[in-house]
Amino acid sequence: MPRINISEFRTDEGSQDPFSPIKLRKLLLKNRFIKSATYEGMYRGGMPAGQLIDFHTRIALGGVGMTTVAYGAVNNAGRTHDEQMYLHEGVLEPLQQLTDSVHQYQCAASIQLTHCGYFSKNKQLAGKKTLAPSRRMNMYGFMEGMFFSKSMDAGEIIGTAEDFARAAVLAKSAGFDAVEIHMGHGYLISQFLSPIINSRTDDYGGTLQNRLRFPLMVLERIRNAVGGDFPVLCKMNLDDGFRGGLKIDESIQIAAALENAGADALILSGGYTSRTPFYLMRGDIPLTQMIRAESQMLQKIALAVFGRIIIRKYPFAENFFLPLAGKIREAVKMPVVYLGGVVSSEGINRIMNEGFDMIALGRALIHDPDFIKKIRGNRSFISPCNHCNLCVAEMDHSGVRCLIDEK
Ligand SMILES: Cc1cc2nc3c(=O)[nH]c(=O)nc-3n(C[C@H](O)[C@H](O)[C@H](O)COP(=O)(O)O)c2cc1C
Repeated sequence: MPRINISEFRTDEGSQDPFSPIKLRKLLLKNRFIKSATYEGMYRGGMPAGQLIDFHTRIALGGVGMTTVAYGAVNNAGRTHDEQMYLHEGVLEPLQQLTDSVHQYQCAASIQLTHCGYFSKNKQLAGKKTLAPSRRMNMYGFMEGMFFSKSMDAGEIIGTAEDFARAAVLAKSAGFDAVEIHMGHGYLISQFLSPIINSRTDDYGGTLQNRLRFPLMVLERIRNAVGGDFPVLCKMNLDDGFRGGLKIDESIQIAAALENAGADALILSGGYTSRTPFYLMRGDIPLTQMIRAESQMLQKIALAVFGRIIIRKYPFAENFFLPLAGKIREAVKMPVVYLGGVVSSEGINRIMNEGFDMIALGRALIHDPDFIKKIRGNRSFISPCNHCNLCVAEMDHSGVRCLIDEK
């Protein structure tokens, strides 16, 4: 099984050169660029399709130091819908093929480990309650009879943390070089952290220290399960993007807690999928295409009638999270990955000059996996990605891809 050959790289920790190598535990990345998790929609009945392997191989060929497979649910209940993959023995073979393929190009592979919490329309849970820190209405699952979530009991909380650990071990056995714990975007861990969503009155709710108990348990169980050499990254919110949600003052404390608990890097993002989905991306809302891609008739109608009212638009700006992300950069010493609106050579230099260790990109690489090669030779290169977000509507339709040229 080919692992990436790292002997040819030398690290220069703290370097402002995004093309210099960096070490995360024993993993040496050939440069500071990470393909961020963007749900690929390339699964058939929960099994990774060949298309998924091709997608990540193409990204690897484009030159990033590490690519990230999106949405590896840690158990069946952690899937937002039943096409998505959850980590179990049955998916290891295609995942091994994926990591082998990516490693051929000296690119590392990470996988995002996640659980959706209350936000699910997984048909394999039909009629059952989704799990969440507190009882909540699950608009997304109405058609499957999953109207409300159940407030998790202590056994379910511990069992889910154990599932995160088991999933991390499976990912490691399939050749992944790192795992990323999804603590943002309104998924389960983010639901625990969010002050308005988590209304528990026990040890897992109320104060930030209590809301952090489950996220830190997940990190600790994963670390114990994968050992000291294996990098564990955490993707967390800077701001949930709505009143009452997580704000930067608490995000700074969360970052510090994750640093103390031994996370290897923080990937900073924001937004809450069921409430402020475009806060994390910015740009256009491809409503017509989202309606077309929706398979359930009632959801289609709801989107058509209420879409413009309920889905808020946020204008795109290059490096849109930089002001908030800078506050976390100042607060911790650990490696911090900047993410959000990275589109140009100049913008990348600005991010590195502000002390970030790595840069993650989503849409610029969906548009053109060779983006990294293009900025290397051109100090004024700007990605033609116009943040139309058609790739978002397309992911659950025929798999994530750029549609700019088809408009
Ligand atoms: C099509 C698409 C799918 C996405 N899926 C995920 C996902 O599965 N997990 C996640 O953490 N973020 C997801 N994101 C958010 C991206 O990782 C990233 O935070 C966001 O696109 C902003 O980065 P960018 O401006 O470089 O695209 C997705 C974004 C896009 C465009």
